[in-house]
Amino acid sequence: MEYQAKELFAAHGVPVTAGVVATTPEEARAAAEQLGVVVVKAQVKAGGRGKAGGVKLARTPEEAEQHASAILGMEIKGLTVHRVLIAPAASIEEEYYFSFLLDRANRRYLCIASVEGGVEIEEVAQTNPDAVKQIPIDPGTGVDEAKAREIVAEAAFPEALRDQAVQTVLALWQVFVSEDATLVEVNPLARLAGDKLEALDGKVSLDDNADFRHETHAQFEDESSADPLEAKAKEKGLNYVKLDGSVGIIGNGAGLVMSTLDVVAYAGEAHGGVTPANFLDIGGGASAQVMADGLDVILNDAQVKSVFVNVFGGITSCDAVANGIVGALDILGDDATKPLVVRLDGNNVDEGRRILDERNHPLVTLVDTMDGAADKAAELAHAAK
Ligand SMILES: Nc1ncnc2c1ncn2[C@@H]1O[C@H](COP(=O)(O)OP(=O)(O)OP(=O)(O)O)[C@@H](O)[C@H]1O
Ligand SMILES: [Mg+2]
Repeated sequence: MEYQAKELFAAHGVPVTAGVVATTPEEARAAAEQLGVVVVKAQVKAGGRGKAGGVKLARTPEEAEQHASAILGMEIKGLTVHRVLIAPAASIEEEYYFSFLLDRANRRYLCIASVEGGVEIEEVAQTNPDAVKQIPIDPGTGVDEAKAREIVAEAAFPEALRDQAVQTVLALWQVFVSEDATLVEVNPLARLAGDKLEALDGKVSLDDNADFRHETHAQFEDESSADPLEAKAKEKGLNYVKLDGSVGIIGNGAGLVMSTLDVVAYAGEAHGGVTPANFLDIGGGASAQVMADGLDVILNDAQVKSVFVNVFGGITSCDAVANGIVGALDILGDDATKPLVVRLDGNNVDEGRRILDERNHPLVTLVDTMDGAADKAAELAHAAK
């Protein structure tokens, strides 16, 4: 969230317009009494807050209280606002856009900067792309003072701000590197009265692969807006992402699960356009417990109408997976209510199929091929609608 991004900015020497976080209209009023004219800003992890009515100027403490009471509880892009930032109103002369990000496609970092920043930056990028500069950064050398000067010159920051801009660019690079970020974005980076450069907004994406070396990053997790199924899956150590469709998916290995999503979406075209309900990779050791945990999460998704279990036996053989499925259905008992389409192949497949045939569970359909199973799962999901 903006206020958290600004804490990181401040810790690395980026000048920010900070403020006070409030969770009630009364707290907002009290903050405004201290700060004077303020801007009341919704704190959610989504862009476009201003356009959604989540950023409002308040000239008096009463106004701050009113705006806070309107903004708290508001939904922005599906996220409920639980906090507002009460920031001193700055007198803005110009708004710039600045970001560092991971450029995966080109295996390097990228700086994007524009002196035509502000809330319309996406539109500027469309209508006047030349005004948005993209400056590649070699990960081996990063951003030193010379590179920062190059960036500032390329982006054409006004002469009067150049030295400040160089310092700010270096400080933002520090945020990017020391915090293991994949995105550091400032929009607007503002020129204030008296030629001061300040970050009025901030957005940071942190690389959670680096969590182990940043104990403090756990505090940035927003549990209140996490999807409850995703939270449950995370608690059980499952690799799960909730999607919008109605066919639940379980597979082993991220690549297989990704292609299962594609195959189901394709098969769904012939069955009323049904699509996958989730991504779930149970990984290598598909024990009964892991399978039960996975099925438990998926079956509790009200949108799910059928489940496709797609396993290729490798190190974990098909008979172990079949025992996992049977064991999971026993653990879940009456909680298991939706049809399961199972496709097994690979190591020890005959024994795996035999175990499922023998158990002959009324909810389970065994299909030999991936395409055939996808078609069956899509058909069942469509029929259940
Ligand atoms: N402290 C402030 N003082 C004066 N004006 C401000 C202040 N903070 C923001 N603004 C104005 O409000 C606009 C929108 O604010 P901000 O950039 O924080 O939100 P946003 O861009 O709508 O949200 P998001 O970053 O979610 O897209 C800014 O471009 C700026 O013009
Ligand atoms: Mg912004």
